[in-house]
Amino acid sequence: SIAPLIDPFARAISYLRVSVTDRCDFRCTYCMSENMTFLPKAELLSLEELDRLCSAFVDLGVKKLRVTGGEPLVRRGIMTFFEGMGRHLASGALDELTLTTNGSQLRRFAQPLADAGVKRVNVSLDTLDEKRFAEVTRWGRFAQVMDGIDAALDAGLKVKINAVALKGVNDDEAIRMVEWCHARGMDLTFIEVMPMGDDIDRLDQYWSLKDVRAHLAEQFTLTDIPLNTGGPARYVRAEETGGRIGFITPLSHNFCESCNRVRLTCTGQLYMCLGQDDDADLRRVLRADPSDAGLHEAIRAAIARKPKGHDFDYSRQTVNGEMLRHMSHTGG
Ligand code: GTP
Ligand code: 5AD
Ligand code: SF4
Repeated sequence: SIAPLIDPFARAISYLRVSVTDRCDFRCTYCMSENMTFLPKAELLSLEELDRLCSAFVDLGVKKLRVTGGEPLVRRGIMTFFEGMGRHLASGALDELTLTTNGSQLRRFAQPLADAGVKRVNVSLDTLDEKRFAEVTRWGRFAQVMDGIDAALDAGLKVKINAVALKGVNDDEAIRMVEWCHARGMDLTFIEVMPMGDDIDRLDQYWSLKDVRAHLAEQFTLTDIPLNTGGPARYVRAEETGGRIGFITPLSHNFCESCNRVRLTCTGQLYMCLGQDDDADLRRVLRADPSDAGLHEAIRAAIARKPKGHDFDYSRQTVNGEMLRHMSHTGG
């Protein structure tokens, strides 16, 4: 059988995040600038190429595939891709096929996604306040996302809400968001804002999840639980609601040592780390070599370059400048 993907730090790579488009119908301030220039279509991998490339990763032992963007559900024909990946679930090669979405298109896509074998979706939602929602997402329609979440739950999907913790934006809503999510049977994960993109000074908005946890602990009894989804979050249970809260802490508690993932952009560049600029051009290999042998070799060569961890560091931000790559490029 084929050897699994192991990086130089003995981490097994079993999780592929694939961004299927750089476009989005929202313009979240921490993710995109207002006037984004998007890639011309010819640069994008076709749906067939995406299938071939992701299937090569599955051949090499990837067990979890998360589709991201931009907003994955605005990519034309995306259900063809999900249905194609569904065959790897059916064969047992893949354990989980899932996506991270802004929720705007879920009314239309929740049932087809469930039919393709998706069991759970992560929906990005930073606030329950309609006005703030409009400020954060710039272009988002709150009611549409609420309706999308309902559609996902109706289709039997497990829903996890992702909220970026933003001081001065949603810090007075953390408790209410926990209650709202847990009342609907949804987990809620908080994320520390990372210094990417170019639009605002995120240092001002940075709210350490250590402080978020302390704040929540004033309202709830929090018990650490060993849940491991394969992602970076560490979880607690709120005893009063019985629901789960996740913490993704790239800044306050680096989790790189247990990293199991790599990221593929919609143009076929493989990023070995979200916080590092090194990438490998798999599109070139894909287009040059119709056999999968070359592709497998290129993937292994890229994994052999996976760095130890990211370089995010707010204390150096003003000296070093922030990363100019947008989150929508690598899919978070
Ligand atoms: P689960 O399968 O539910 O555990 O999801 P996940 O956390 O793996 O995926 P999701 O798309 O919900 O990720 C939430 C966010 O966590 C991402 O968008 C990033 O902002 C952050 N994140 C995920 N992986 C990494 C990572 O390797 N490094 C850093 N710095 N942030 C990450
Ligand atoms: N810092 C932290 N999280 C971010 N996301 C997008 N940009 C950033 C950032 N700068 C999150 C979104 C979504 C996920 C895909 O990435 O809110 O939940
Ligand atoms: Fe779109 Fe998600 Fe970026 Fe917001 S965070 S602009 S919803 S890709």
